[in-house]
Amino acid sequence: MDNNEKLKYIVDSYNKDIKTIDDSLKLNEMRVKYLGKKSEIQEISLNLGSLSIEEKKELGKSLNEAKKYIEGDLNRLTEEIKNKELTTKLNKEKIDLTLPGTKFELGTKHPISIVREEIEELFVSMGYDVLDGPELEEDLYNFEMLNIPKGHPARDMQDSFYITEEKLLRTHTSPVQARAMLNNKEKSPIRIICSGYTYRKDNDDATHSHQFHQIEGLFIDENISMSDLKGTLELLSKKLFGESREIRIRSSYFPFTEPSIEIDISCFNCNKKGCSICKNSGWIEILGAGMVHPSVLRMGGYDPDKYSGFAFGMGLERIAMLKFGINDVRYFYSNDIRFLNQFNKIEGDSNESK
Ligand code: DAH
Repeated sequence: MDNNEKLKYIVDSYNKDIKTIDDSLKLNEMRVKYLGKKSEIQEISLNLGSLSIEEKKELGKSLNEAKKYIEGDLNRLTEEIKNKELTTKLNKEKIDLTLPGTKFELGTKHPISIVREEIEELFVSMGYDVLDGPELEEDLYNFEMLNIPKGHPARDMQDSFYITEEKLLRTHTSPVQARAMLNNKEKSPIRIICSGYTYRKDNDDATHSHQFHQIEGLFIDENISMSDLKGTLELLSKKLFGESREIRIRSSYFPFTEPSIEIDISCFNCNKKGCSICKNSGWIEILGAGMVHPSVLRMGGYDPDKYSGFAFGMGLERIAMLKFGINDVRYFYSNDIRFLNQFNKIEGDSNESK
């Protein structure tokens, strides 16, 4: 095969090879194969030196033509393939701006939290501090320091979950009172509010739960009297159940208060006429309270001759049930989204809802 035939053969085989090429990587390999340093064309051009001037001229011309042809064709194809690849990439990465975005599901506030925050807000505005206490409590704080020594019949009122002889799940939030008094080393006035889980051995039904929430308040200062307690609880009742609520004080008994009282509010549903919510009495019981017992003050390190105080405690579930018309306490713990979603819009406009 002479050189001219060789060139013709190279161009033919290039034309055959190129038909199967459809990406830029293979195209590069083709460029190396047909135009690179070790290509057959390059080999022929290296041999040019050994030829006569006439032969050189003739072969040089055909060599250039073959080179130009392959080069031109490769360049054209490079452009074509690049464009094709870009279009494919763009199509693949295309963003459909009309597609709906990812929806973030926002949670709603739990009804217990709504009520707790409403109460805390009121008391914080009156200068109370918000305190926390342990749920796993010592018998000492849960009972002893609240004037309920071992063997006291009042212990039977609160069927308790004991963990050890001396530790139990707190049966009420009142132990925080004892802790607050002891922790106050200067024995200065105290104004605190505390909420959280409490536990009692109860069989769960529509109105009982072995785990529930309470909120507790304690105010200790000089010259605190029953009228301070009454004024405070009146404010609380109005905040929770509307401006037109009245309160009624009934005498009661708690070992840690003397005197002890219970507070009823005028029924928000029938305004004292009598209905199923107030069991036809016109009044609804909402909390227990009283003047802190001198023994409790003394055990907390406060001189009952100088200081006096009031305290109150209530169940948050009961308040939320009354406020939102919920008839089964178990709804609070079932995590049913249909129940929880109903509280989406209640917050903030609930005060006068009933
Ligand atoms: N701890 C009481 C209970 O669980 C509620 C209570 C009554 C709390 C009177 C008080 C209070 O602080 O003064 O039934």
